[in-house]
Amino acid sequence: MKQNIYDHPDFFNGYKVLRDGDKGLNELLEQPVMKRLLRPVQDKIILDMGCGLGHQIRELLVQKPKQITGLDISQKMLAEAQSRTPSPTVEWVCSALEDFDFGTSRFDLVISSMTLHYIENLDLLFQKIYDGLKAGGQFLFSMEHPVCTAALKPWEELKGEKYWVINRYSEESIRKQDWFVKDVEKYHHQLSTIVNGLLKAGFTLKNLEEPSPDRELIQLRPDFEQHIHRPPIVIMNVEKD
Ligand SMILES: C[S@@+](CC[C@H](N)C(=O)[O-])C[C@H]1O[C@@H](n2cnc3c(N)ncnc32)[C@H](O)[C@@H]1O
Repeated sequence: MKQNIYDHPDFFNGYKVLRDGDKGLNELLEQPVMKRLLRPVQDKIILDMGCGLGHQIRELLVQKPKQITGLDISQKMLAEAQSRTPSPTVEWVCSALEDFDFGTSRFDLVISSMTLHYIENLDLLFQKIYDGLKAGGQFLFSMEHPVCTAALKPWEELKGEKYWVINRYSEESIRKQDWFVKDVEKYHHQLSTIVNGLLKAGFTLKNLEEPSPDRELIQLRPDFEQHIHRPPIVIMNVEKD
């Protein structure tokens, strides 16, 4: 079952304020690495999976790609993205990733920011993405780190120190979390499952990154100290040869 929680009014409003507000994980930790790993996209055909409010699409448009498909399961997110991004280069598609027809050798780049932890069957999706990419194409994505999705009862204090408690790491299954609303569903996959799924599909792994804050960033944002203790995000960059 696919949950469409971003269309829930309370969730949508809470998420929108967070994403648009103070610079958070996306802007300070995730996007710098995504931008470093992104190959030039001028004249390229791009798919953004789970495009949300369209932040990444607006960044990509600066490079003048040929066409971008913004794909998302949430009508509310897409409507907002569309109104913020009046560009004839972008086609907006409301569909679950799992139901989307990727076609064959269609895209130069498939990109996805912080969405794949909502997907149950990654092996199947990776195979469809591989088929949908042209030879030489790039698949670049970030998702919640498995160390985070595994944890059901995360932070605990022990002798005055904070620890991120992990249990049931090898139990790959749905996890429910309260975030703006009750019972937001995510899927926990082991890191090995994600990497092996990509290799099985035929991809060549180029980069695997676990961004963490440096001293400078912690001085600017003391609340980011927590991300030293465990990696919040994993980013993978793979290619179809
Ligand atoms: C954390 S937001 C990230 C949005 C955007 N990529 C960004 O970084 O600002 C996750 C997005 O994935 C979408 N999403 C979640 N599950 C999905 C699914 N099964 N198929 C398509 N989109 C999905 C949500 O509606 C939401 O817009």
